[in-house]
Amino acid sequence: MKLLDGKAISAQIKEEIKAEVAQMIDGDIRPPHLAAILVGEDPASQTYVASKEKNCASVGIMSTAYRLPADTSEEELLQTIEFLNNDEEVDGFIVQLPLPKHIDEDKVIKLVDPSKDVDGFHPVNIGKMVLGEDTYLPATPYGIMELLKRYDIDTEGKHCVVLGRSNIVGTPMSLLMSRKSKPGNATVTMCHSRTKNIKDIAASADILIAAIGQPHFVTADMVKEGAIVIDVGMHRIEDASKKSGFRLTGDVDFDEVSKKASYITPVPGGVGLMTIAGLLLNTLKARKAKL
Ligand code: GUN
Repeated sequence: MKLLDGKAISAQIKEEIKAEVAQMIDGDIRPPHLAAILVGEDPASQTYVASKEKNCASVGIMSTAYRLPADTSEEELLQTIEFLNNDEEVDGFIVQLPLPKHIDEDKVIKLVDPSKDVDGFHPVNIGKMVLGEDTYLPATPYGIMELLKRYDIDTEGKHCVVLGRSNIVGTPMSLLMSRKSKPGNATVTMCHSRTKNIKDIAASADILIAAIGQPHFVTADMVKEGAIVIDVGMHRIEDASKKSGFRLTGDVDFDEVSKKASYITPVPGGVGLMTIAGLLLNTLKARKAKL
């Protein structure tokens, strides 16, 4: 078994971004600027946004976080989006999901200017992705594609099973893996909560991508000997032995599955870090689009 090391590959990507940003600054060009809107105090979302700020700083990308209270009205959030759409100094921005229940997520996503939609969630950008046009890819699938590419994993003609059909991961991941590209060119099966015999389908995968949102859903009996396993899950499990009071685990039972897999991503240290790398790449792209 070999680890698909998101820590090492994201560090490599960050070095590349840092060098490009340094060149911009040397040439008197304003560095890229990412903004993030966070509504409410969801602990996982707070961690993600803080991590995005820290990672931006580490490569020289400017960042601004708009932390709004949980009772922010939909109207106020839409106004903040309008403000960022019109702010010449902001190249791209994201609205951290999930949003509080009283806010219509769909309305929010559709108001983001597609040219600043570095999350790649706007219907225009999703449409471009489907057609294989140049666009901002959603950060997690983008990060996973980069990971496969940089490990030179051969995906052509392989059976790729994606567990989960979310707009953020499962759906775009299925599309990208089936596209005529490298990595890509795989035969994709997308499974979800209504799929019959999900275990058998997963066990037939050459490449298994778990984005189902349940800790340790993927057990060793669901994995073929030699399969490549990508774990998108990120769950906090109470653990009194940790300073934070919790530890992170994924959708895959790593200890058992890693005995069968040829390659596997760890949690933490896998897809999560690649998601951040994807977002940083999109932010750099947004800045370069204006030059
Ligand atoms: N919530 C979970 N993943 C994401 C992401 O990639 N972008 C945003 N905006 N929110 C998320």
